[in-house]
Amino acid sequence: MEQEHWPHPPVTAHRRAATEEESRRANGPDWDRYADEYQATHGDFLGDVGFVWGPEGLTEADAGVLGPLAGKDVLEVGSGAGQCSRWIRSVGGRAYGLDLSHRQLQHSLRIDDATGIAVPSVRGTATQLPFATASFDVVFCAFGALQFVADIDRAVQEAARVLRPGGRFAFSITHPTRWMFPDDPTEDGLMASQSYWDRTPYVEVDDVTGRPAYVEHHRTLGDWVSILAGAGFRITALLEPEWPDDHERLWGGWSSVRGRLTPGTAIFGADLD
Ligand SMILES: C[S@@+](CC[C@H](N)C(=O)[O-])C[C@H]1O[C@@H](n2cnc3c(N)ncnc32)[C@H](O)[C@@H]1O
Repeated sequence: MEQEHWPHPPVTAHRRAATEEESRRANGPDWDRYADEYQATHGDFLGDVGFVWGPEGLTEADAGVLGPLAGKDVLEVGSGAGQCSRWIRSVGGRAYGLDLSHRQLQHSLRIDDATGIAVPSVRGTATQLPFATASFDVVFCAFGALQFVADIDRAVQEAARVLRPGGRFAFSITHPTRWMFPDDPTEDGLMASQSYWDRTPYVEVDDVTGRPAYVEHHRTLGDWVSILAGAGFRITALLEPEWPDDHERLWGGWSSVRGRLTPGTAIFGADLD
């Protein structure tokens, strides 16, 4: 499990266009750099064999967005260390992982060994799934991949392609309304400071190489409806989990301060006809 690590490069944040290739070339290495810290910080909350949809702590056991899982073939896109897929395996589903980051997949292997529940996983990208057409009953992302890809139509079409007829696609993302606010968990993060409709990506540019080092993309709620409908999906759920009263977790820009007032996570469920 030893792997070379390098410090985060000095970066400057911009709003600028970023292609699919630029996004992939930036975000893979970025997740490689961040993976150890991410797992150390959030691993206990996620649970080695646990499925939470986001920082509010809503579990799939409570939400039931994916429907019955026993005996189902399931693909998790942006699977990270595979916690969600491992939980699906623990309830009888055949879950597989796919992630862009080698280091995240090393963490997945580490937890496979520790728990005795292995999630077969592959390194790849959401826009080019290395699976045959109509291979899965369920495809999902728990904050995985979708905010990091430029070619979102292609990613959603790929999910549709690998699903069997009647299959379900579900995903959680940062709630689109959060785009308007600074990424600040305090009260200062409650003042809208940029347009909800401005889809220009957030790009951190490496000060030395001039290349993107991290890219995040934004779509409005209306965009998501069009993207899903355009790929042949019928939307069956849009959950906006409320921040629980006794929940004091701080996760990037998510906190009880903002969570009690504005939604931080959106969870879509959609079915293929
Ligand atoms: C916030 S993590 C979520 C992982 C996991 N679901 C969890 O809750 O910890 C996002 C994951 O998406 C992966 N990712 C980013 N871009 C991707 C892409 N284009 N294709 C597949 N995975 C990608 C990252 O490597 C990272 O592991």
